[in-house]
Amino acid sequence: MSYTDSVQARPTDFYKEDFSVKGWDTISVPSNWEIEGFGLPIYTNVKYVFPKNPPFIPHNMNNVGTYKRDFDIPNDWKNKDIYLHFAGVSGAMYVYINGKMVGYNEGSKTPAEYNITKYIKSGKNQIAVQVLRWSDASYMEDQDFWRLSGIERDVYLRADNPIAINDFRIGSDLVNAYKDGAFSIDVKIKNTSNAPENRKVEVKLLDSNKKEMLTFNRTINVTLGIVNVSFEGLLKDVKPWTAETPNLYTATIALSNSEGKIEQATSVKVGFRNIKIENTQFLVNGKPILIKGVNLHDHDESTGHVISKELTLKDLKLMKENNVNAIRTSHYPKNPFFYAMTDKYGFYVVDEANIETHGMGTTNQGLDNNEEAKKIHPAYLPEWKAMHMDRTVRMFERDKNHPSIVTWSLGNEAGNGENFFATYAWLKEQDMTRPVQYEGATNYENTDIQVPMYMRIPEMIKYAKNNPKRPLIQCEYAHAMGNSLGNFKDYWDVIREYDVMQGGFIWDWVDQGLLAKTEDGQSYWGYGGDFGAENIQNDANFCINGIVNADRSPHPGLEELKKVYQNIHFRDANFKTGQVTVVNEYFFTNLNNFNFTWSLFKDGNQLVSDNIETFDLEPGAAKTLILNLPKVDLNSGEYALQILASTKNELPLLPKGYPLAKEEFLAGTFTPVFKKNTDDVIAVSSQANILTFKSDAFEASFDVKTGKLTALDYGNGNILIQGIQPNFWRATTDNDFGFNMPKVFEPWKKATDNQTLLSIQLKDGNKVTDLKAVDGSRNLKNASAYLQVLYQLPNEMAKIKVDYKIDASGQLTVTNSLFDVKEGLPNMPRFGNNFILKNDYNLVNWYGRGPQENYQDRNTAAFVGNYKANVKDLYFAYVRPQENGYKTDVRWVTFTNENGKGIKVLGPKLLSFSAHHQYNSDFDAGETKKQRHTTDIVTRDLVNINIDNMQMGVGGDTSWGARPLEKYQIKAKNMSYSYSIMPID
Ligand code: GAL
Ligand code: MG
Repeated sequence: MSYTDSVQARPTDFYKEDFSVKGWDTISVPSNWEIEGFGLPIYTNVKYVFPKNPPFIPHNMNNVGTYKRDFDIPNDWKNKDIYLHFAGVSGAMYVYINGKMVGYNEGSKTPAEYNITKYIKSGKNQIAVQVLRWSDASYMEDQDFWRLSGIERDVYLRADNPIAINDFRIGSDLVNAYKDGAFSIDVKIKNTSNAPENRKVEVKLLDSNKKEMLTFNRTINVTLGIVNVSFEGLLKDVKPWTAETPNLYTATIALSNSEGKIEQATSVKVGFRNIKIENTQFLVNGKPILIKGVNLHDHDESTGHVISKELTLKDLKLMKENNVNAIRTSHYPKNPFFYAMTDKYGFYVVDEANIETHGMGTTNQGLDNNEEAKKIHPAYLPEWKAMHMDRTVRMFERDKNHPSIVTWSLGNEAGNGENFFATYAWLKEQDMTRPVQYEGATNYENTDIQVPMYMRIPEMIKYAKNNPKRPLIQCEYAHAMGNSLGNFKDYWDVIREYDVMQGGFIWDWVDQGLLAKTEDGQSYWGYGGDFGAENIQNDANFCINGIVNADRSPHPGLEELKKVYQNIHFRDANFKTGQVTVVNEYFFTNLNNFNFTWSLFKDGNQLVSDNIETFDLEPGAAKTLILNLPKVDLNSGEYALQILASTKNELPLLPKGYPLAKEEFLAGTFTPVFKKNTDDVIAVSSQANILTFKSDAFEASFDVKTGKLTALDYGNGNILIQGIQPNFWRATTDNDFGFNMPKVFEPWKKATDNQTLLSIQLKDGNKVTDLKAVDGSRNLKNASAYLQVLYQLPNEMAKIKVDYKIDASGQLTVTNSLFDVKEGLPNMPRFGNNFILKNDYNLVNWYGRGPQENYQDRNTAAFVGNYKANVKDLYFAYVRPQENGYKTDVRWVTFTNENGKGIKVLGPKLLSFSAHHQYNSDFDAGETKKQRHTTDIVTRDLVNINIDNMQMGVGGDTSWGARPLEKYQIKAKNMSYSYSIMPID
């Protein structure tokens, strides 16, 4: 392979048979050459990498890869038609065989096949291919992903007899109330010889046990060119295909000559199902299914766009494990293996044409009324029509027989000119069995389903309530960039409420991080602007929007996805009667396919657990179960009932016993037990601005100049590195950057960084001492000391008072009161306290939501329980460092060393916390994102702790402006909260 930076520098005589490839590199195929070290991987979203001037590309910035190799033609391929097949080549391709030009191709994600019979000689042959990174096709392939080049899918040769099966089209509808299968097949036989001949065409339909269900045959005269043969038949009591029940039959097609010898045979999987839209609902086999979807790009952390079979299976398995039932092939057809697997394992697929002209403008994003932009926009110009058609036709022809494809998509973000009315019309004409969708046609007629992107909840409700004419399935929603997927359940509350709402596809499944290494060998996931492309057009980490990392390890949000997407729901548990309602949200699966268990906990500790006897429950039905709960006194503690549903037998890609649905119900109340005070004497002494309280149980010191706790000792030495400090900020997430939090919430950053001590007072009974004046030492009259520290926040925005109640028992109760809050302040990211313990106290035990990271708008899958972890495991390493590792609804949390010594933090009300070996500021990029990676995060010799009243939600609608839903934000107003720290020994 030869790589050159420009068209001018490319080899021009490369195709000649005697051209010497001396000095060329070797590359394996399939591959992307930028990944193999030739040229730069570029990630850009909307903006083209080249100057926008369709259809032209400057030659001097166009990289070229030239490939050459020999290959052998087997002797028994004599008298055959030989085809050269490229399953996918990224870039414009010129193909030569033995010095002769064979063809040209554009369209990176659909096959290009050439009849090379006339160029071939027996024995050794030569192929030469030249690929240009950019071409007029690049205007049509402006998808938001890594721009990578080369032969990225399989290449093979195929030999056909001159009379051979050329193509076939399967019909596999359901009829007679969806009970019977209407099978049909149109087989195209071609004849490239010089005389017509008779052939027998035989088609058999086999069931999964290879039993012949239908058999057809006919002898026909195959005239020159192409001849059609059609068969049809009815299959009584067919086993229908759905994503839940991916029943497949096999059709075999054989061609035999007049002596009865089979010359060619092939087979195809057949799934019987019916897709239609009726009464503004999208129906599969007559049922208004819900699309629990994700968008999937071609992405491998180390091979780029080259997707192995193993990776596809890994993705599909992980999707099944997490209740995903639908995939949009954003934004181009996948490789053929993918569809074979979605047929086999059961996914509803929206197959999308490889068309995106985002950089030229698109409907719903300003193009609709921009007549100037339309004048040069491919969607609106006749000279680009053939390219739109070509991409649509090639997708359809390659994929038409797959039962898993339930909808065609015209493309993504590409305007909606006459060319899309044409591709829509063409698809409708070809295929009556599947709807066609296109986001760009949301306000037009050429989409059968309304498939908007990032429609927010109020708009969804408005649509549903205003006499909708088409079902609504968001083609993209829940933008999962970084720490996101907030309010996912809120979406689904609306989807489940309105019949016309049938789900959506999360943006998106996998982070497009490419594996990179620092000079000292630490690996990290790189993104746009890395790999030497910092000065080239790029959109930084906007390609890191997945719900799983690039290696498919999950983000914490995946648990929430699984829970919200689950198909079995539990409601209205009654702790007295043991009654609980179970709802079957599957459309084709009886709940007798699952095992159910329940467990009962008191204050986080398991009391009992039991199985529920298998029961029948039809799809869509609900029933009341009676659990054999023990009698419990709800006044005696907090009870949690957890119910779990797991697979009873293997399901496609899932083992037996795999958990798929769960719920938790809480009852009773948690009563915090604070430490009883003793009547020990508390001695107070002051020296060089340090005020120290001391009893038999503890010693605590404060700096009277700052008001801060400087040391806390419960008999094992000082455990503190840094004392308690009010905190209103969080390390900016990607969603936060989307609404420019560093700017719009800036006062709270300042309030965190600049707190001016106004006063510090000690109260002993009624006696108040202003500490700036004290010196010496004495014993307090009371067994509790009250220290009150008052801070002014910048620009008179508010004051915060931190009250410390110090008991002789060692219990330290901290109350934070925010008051005198000025009018007109922005909402607050957080209201809490930060302090730092010595590194030994790195064992954490909490009773609250967990075990995974959770936030107030993303915690329905994080059950309240008693969890243990090491501090290092509480860090979730988002690709671009940001706020992470939070836990909500925390009743208590302990931090102990390996000897079990340490502290417990307990609140009268629910708290939230996080603990890291990093400062909060380590995760904070500041005012702009910078080009930060996980390797910028160092592990420090400390345990940094946040004990909060609350933090706002993470949000999840978009990463370009949407804030967390109003109800998950924190209004700036007078507020207070408190908690106690007590020794564990
Ligand atoms: C959508 C687009 C996706 C992706 C997403 C942002 O507008 O269709 O391809 O760019 O925004 O992550
Ligand atoms: Mg786009």
